[in-house]
Amino acid sequence: MATFIQQLASMSQQLALVSDPKNTIRFSPDSQPEVPKRLVPPHVESLKPYQPGRPPEELKKELGIERFVNMASNENPLGPPPSALAAIQANLTEINRYPDLCGTKLREALAERFATKVDNIALGSGSESTMANIIRAFLHDDDEVLTSQGTFIGLYVLVKAQGIKLNTVPLKNYHFDLDAIADAVTPKTKIIYLCNPNNPTGTIFTRTEFENFIRKVPEHVLVILDEAYYEFAAHNPEYPDSMRYRLDNVLTLRTFAKAYGMAGIRLGYGLGHEYLIDYVNRIKLPFEPNILAQSAGLAALHDDEYLEHTLLNNEEGMAYLTGEFDKLGLQRIPSYSNFIMIEMGSQEKVARIHEGLLRHGIAIRPLTAFGLPTCWRVSIGLPQENELLIKALKNIL
Ligand SMILES: Cc1ncc(COP(=O)(O)O)c(C=O)c1O
Repeated sequence: MATFIQQLASMSQQLALVSDPKNTIRFSPDSQPEVPKRLVPPHVESLKPYQPGRPPEELKKELGIERFVNMASNENPLGPPPSALAAIQANLTEINRYPDLCGTKLREALAERFATKVDNIALGSGSESTMANIIRAFLHDDDEVLTSQGTFIGLYVLVKAQGIKLNTVPLKNYHFDLDAIADAVTPKTKIIYLCNPNNPTGTIFTRTEFENFIRKVPEHVLVILDEAYYEFAAHNPEYPDSMRYRLDNVLTLRTFAKAYGMAGIRLGYGLGHEYLIDYVNRIKLPFEPNILAQSAGLAALHDDEYLEHTLLNNEEGMAYLTGEFDKLGLQRIPSYSNFIMIEMGSQEKVARIHEGLLRHGIAIRPLTAFGLPTCWRVSIGLPQENELLIKALKNIL
């Protein structure tokens, strides 16, 4: 007797025979499907497809190397927190169930951590998802977004994908120019996006700079304060931790992807006034983040040992790499994060470093897509990875 799969296969063959070829969009390379002219709105048409790096397995094969180190994505090099792995393991048997729609346990734990109410917290599948929910919730028609050039590319994409006008002011000496941003506010400005520490420059704006800025911003303007790298800068007395201010028009974004070592599980959150968070939660897909992410986040949040280990590795790696970069005469931008940006002065030099390092099995991030074509960014790795990078750089330079 034919199996169920065999029956399905023969049914689909029959269907293919009876379908009308004129009504079929073909995927064969030699036929252009007749696509209606306005398949997507112009702001979607103008988006550039995401260009992923080549898969490490492919590169290893092509270059004949055994080891490939990714220092391009500001991930945590220590591996995931053991506490999170245990929590994931314990919850694997639950994945036939939908997650808790409200993410109650994790939101309660976060509320306790920050001395807020649960209603001040919105969870997301990565902080970028919460950013997307904010953009979808608050922006419409001729609202505009204002930010800096040379900041997190994900924000630019999300705003443009929504068909919203994005205004930017230049970086000032690789820093957010908060005065210029405040001066560029118009009646149409609905959201200002700030990133502190900034990706990809690694720079911060100080408490004084932030306080002066916030005094100038009209109250009807919402400020997104992206603190994805907060944990790496929090010890700095100059750093304006947004949770000390608790401003009614500021939405803070934080993530488990960086210091908490879980970029792959997709977990982040937003903090803000419950009036704003309520709208974000109305927009959120009902079951994000997934069951494993919620449980992993709950465990990692209390894993002080892992966080301390992360910060120590980062501090030591930062000291080693900055010292070696200086010896090599590279122009590095002082960083308060888990990565360092280098200014090369020309795009050709960046390409030479990028390609040279790839041949040594190391990925770094050239920053053309961020609007900084003469710069590259490298994440702090494990001690042996940092040493490998320096050895390879000496070879290339
Ligand atoms: C500044 C900034 N914000 C947000 C994100 C996205 O974080 P998540 O992985 O939580 O979506 C990143 C990731 O690189 C980032 O650099």
